[in-house]
Amino acid sequence: MLNQALINGKEVSEDIRGKLRLEVDKLAEQGVQPGLAVVLVGEDPASQVYVRNKEKACHDLGYYSEVHRLAADTSQEELLDLIDRLNRQENIHGILVQLPLPKHINEKAVIDAIAVEKDVDGFHPVNVGNLVIGDESLLPCTPAGVIELIKRTGIEIPGKHAVVIGRSNIVGKPVSLLLQRENATVTMCHSRTVNMKEITRQADILVVAIGKANFVDASFVKPGAVVIDVGMNRLDTGKLAGDVDFESVKEVSGPITPVPGGVGPMTITMLMSNTLTAAKRLSGLA
Ligand code: GUN
Repeated sequence: MLNQALINGKEVSEDIRGKLRLEVDKLAEQGVQPGLAVVLVGEDPASQVYVRNKEKACHDLGYYSEVHRLAADTSQEELLDLIDRLNRQENIHGILVQLPLPKHINEKAVIDAIAVEKDVDGFHPVNVGNLVIGDESLLPCTPAGVIELIKRTGIEIPGKHAVVIGRSNIVGKPVSLLLQRENATVTMCHSRTVNMKEITRQADILVVAIGKANFVDASFVKPGAVVIDVGMNRLDTGKLAGDVDFESVKEVSGPITPVPGGVGPMTITMLMSNTLTAAKRLSGLA
């Protein structure tokens, strides 16, 4: 594998953050500071890390941020009251409720309550619907990051065969829609797909988001294909593993993302980008 065939998500992320900083300065001249509210219910350790990272990203980029850490036994009504307040708060342009929520809270009711124009996760059904029909919307962060990484490889997406493994609402479905929007020919594979390798071996672009450690090995991959690994699997050893067996696949693939350091850093960066977009739209500057 050529050295430049490694897709460095950290580097791309830093580059985009540099551009966001310039936009933050421009907005400041107009008296606007992007503001993000993050809501965490309970003490899930992984969620606590994610929330701290989001807070840090806001601080680094000069955004205003509020983190609401609520007890695990917070009622749905209390959470909805908070969202209602944040929806009306003028210095908040983005609202993110960290998932998963405790079992007694209906996730859908919470997502539906977030103002569409402040839904920086892109999870609200109106934003999802706008994505499907190709209207302006806030795009879900990880899928938007995946597209950005593919574009940075320099390959032209139009006309390429893109295969997506995984059909989740958070990654697989929106990634496939975004690839279609970029004029790729898209095939979706999932846990019930028969002869998956026959399909993935035709892929010029392979996006893997199936949530199984090292699921894709070299036998799934056409020589030279772009491989994007969205997997984040914690092994028993405590190590983080992607859905792609990087060591074997990198020998046949073209540009490929590592885990960690590939898609991961892009998710928060796209969240920051969405928050800036929301701030501009809500302030009448976009
Ligand atoms: N938990 C894991 N990933 C995400 C995400 O992208 N957004 C939110 N809100 N919660 C998550």
